[in-house]
Amino acid sequence: MRTLIKNGTVVTASDTFAADVWIDGGKIAALAAPGTVPGNADETIDAKGQYVIPGGIDCHTHMELPFGGTTASDDFDTGTVAAAHGGTTTIVDFAIQSKGSSMRAGLDAWHAKAEGKAAIDYGFHMIMTEANPQTLAEMSDMIREGVTSFKMFMAYPGVFLVDDQQIFRAMLRAGELGALITMHAEIGLPIDVLVQRALSEGHTAPVYHALTRPEVAEATGTERAIALAEMAKVPVYMVHLSAERALRRVMEARDRGLPAYAETCPQYLFCSEDDLRGEPGNEWKGAGYVCTPPLRPAHHHDHLWRGLRDYDLQVVATDHCPFCMKDQKELGKGDFSKIPNGMPGVETRLHLLYEGVTQGKINMNRFVEITSTAPAKLFGMYGKKGTLAVGADADVVVWDPNKAKRLDKANLHMRVDYSPFEGHTVPGSPSHVLSRGDLVVKDDQWVGKQRQGRGQFIRRATFGL
Ligand code: URP
Ligand code: ZN
Ligand code: ZN
Repeated sequence: MRTLIKNGTVVTASDTFAADVWIDGGKIAALAAPGTVPGNADETIDAKGQYVIPGGIDCHTHMELPFGGTTASDDFDTGTVAAAHGGTTTIVDFAIQSKGSSMRAGLDAWHAKAEGKAAIDYGFHMIMTEANPQTLAEMSDMIREGVTSFKMFMAYPGVFLVDDQQIFRAMLRAGELGALITMHAEIGLPIDVLVQRALSEGHTAPVYHALTRPEVAEATGTERAIALAEMAKVPVYMVHLSAERALRRVMEARDRGLPAYAETCPQYLFCSEDDLRGEPGNEWKGAGYVCTPPLRPAHHHDHLWRGLRDYDLQVVATDHCPFCMKDQKELGKGDFSKIPNGMPGVETRLHLLYEGVTQGKINMNRFVEITSTAPAKLFGMYGKKGTLAVGADADVVVWDPNKAKRLDKANLHMRVDYSPFEGHTVPGSPSHVLSRGDLVVKDDQWVGKQRQGRGQFIRRATFGL
């Protein structure tokens, strides 16, 4: 199958130029001056007036995650189809090593969830809930399987939390193996005390999720994670960074030359603690905005955008972890601590960040870098994914800057019964999305010949920066 994308403006993390893109056998075969590609295409896409960019990479998703007494509502079918509609062609999801069980069992379970279901390519990180001799030994097995990054939690006592000694042991082992440790950096033990105190005082509304998880808890976790990584002499990657003080800890580390990296998420750039308060007479609406770390007061937005512009933050991922308001978020009616944590987002990431481009917050090259190129480089996929270059997978998005989209639930494909951005119209939308050369989405319709199972597992390389 040969496809020509002609007349478009190609944008990579570093360059913007007029070029035709020639795709053959699922790979990019040539980038050529407009009108100069020889040969006959089976399919031609006219991208006049549009950007041609590498497919988005969302390196933080939770499809079908069992959490808070329920399970995230998107599976690898619905979640990856939704991702593709939003211009994301690769996800990296989190498999879980459950306490008392092996990483192998966790990885097998996640392969079983994804195989035969995913519509776009996918990789896995591994959540480590223990760093004992067996799990530390198993880290090398995971690397051989192409799972080269691990997530550890300072939060969620009794579920995911691991202590500093275990984190440090895992970091030392990661250093030997070339793995990357990623960190959920909120100090969970004191947070739990604040939660219990708030509940005992009768505070049950969703906003107390934020009021019991203060910014300092994240800043302190971030500082501690970076200190442990410095002692272990390894890189560290902070997931879902939400606030100014945590960002400052990352900046200080980077200024000292430490390989500290961080991602933020659209919800921390576009939503705020006010959303968690709900509406007058309907404070429960805030449950749809419960995620962890919590949404912060709106003044944090500017700091995070500045961090993205100035390379203090490297990636925008989604932490896509949707739960329906009905029956799922409702588990926490009358007790905010029982509201399952997470928000939908895998479909709307590029839309929201492109709005940031139109508002002058980042430029088009940085948009490509933080949504595709940087996650490809950090997580061992660059060359195959994350850029438009000869030999790379033809994961390509034709982005129409003149097409607007209203981010209402009715216009989206994520399997969840609300949109956090209901009523919000953004400029720009993908007109065509190609995954390994297959046109899968055209004008907001799934047009791929195959859907379930067309996505391939990506064996990722070790950390190479
Ligand atoms: O609210 C969130 N973030 N849910 C998913 C679990 C996590 O900590 O990433
Ligand atoms: Zn987390
Ligand atoms: Zn997450």
